Amino acid sequence: MKIFSDALELKTYLKAITKSIGFVPTMGALHDGHLSLIKAAKKECEFVVVSIFVNPTQFLEGEDLQKYPSNNEADKRVCTYAGVDVLFLPKAEDIYESDEITLIAPPIRGYVLEGATRPGHFNGVLTVVNKLFNIVNPDYAYFGKKDAQQLHLIALMVKQLFMSVKIVPIDTVREIDGLALSSRNIYLSKEEHKEALKISRSLYEASNMLRSGELEVQKIKEVMKKILEPLEIGYIEILNYEFEVIDEIEIGNTIILVEVIVGKTRLLDNIWL
Ligand code: PAJ
Repeated sequence: MKIFSDALELKTYLKAITKSIGFVPTMGALHDGHLSLIKAAKKECEFVVVSIFVNPTQFLEGEDLQKYPSNNEADKRVCTYAGVDVLFLPKAEDIYESDEITLIAPPIRGYVLEGATRPGHFNGVLTVVNKLFNIVNPDYAYFGKKDAQQLHLIALMVKQLFMSVKIVPIDTVREIDGLALSSRNIYLSKEEHKEALKISRSLYEASNMLRSGELEVQKIKEVMKKILEPLEIGYIEILNYEFEVIDEIEIGNTIILVEVIVGKTRLLDNIWL
């Protein structure tokens, strides 16, 4: 596995690669969720590039940029074993200058849900993913459905900016107990982890209700709220695949999204129906 930190060096190196390139952008502290993206890339593409970059522009003032979990040595081992061809490990100064062009997330879909509690977060995500796409020039890029709004906005960017990369969505990987894997789960105490299981339980209950014919959004939200009590709920939202609010569920075109604050940690989860 080759490791690069310089963007232009990597770009020049990849230009000579004639194979199909699959790309998995990450912020490191790799877990089985990241690994399933890498595996999907390995399956579909002849050459796989992974980036690890804790992107400062997507963290707001007071967020966990300074203490975001990082373990480059373990991450390098994971990538080597997974058969990654190139690991891109830039520093902030390799990616950003002081006076920068920035992409702005769309005024509606970029400022609801995550974008409402973290205004500007998606500007940072889109800006860095755009830069990474320009450096790597991948044929396919892999993103987790767990970060549904991020996935939606990146697919929108690709469409609206007429980019040629194909975005591949990957299902959420969970612990055996149901908790969606996240690099931020290490912030949870044992007790908080137990409380956090209410999130996946509320989503499973919602899909059970659907299976027994309940399609009314309000009723499903109420049951989910009860299961999540007494946790602080950021939002429970039921949207279609275009990220529009709906009153009635349409199977094959509905996402139920939850944000819950457990202790000091914001946890996201969702289910695609
Ligand atoms: P990060 O949180 O490291 O996630 C990298 C990728 O892994 C994202 O596409 C995310 O949706 C996916 N992922 C995380 N947990 C997952 C799980 N349990 N199952 C499946 N996939 C999972 O998301 C980011 O980094 C950044 O915002 C980034 C896109 C790299 C831009 O900086």
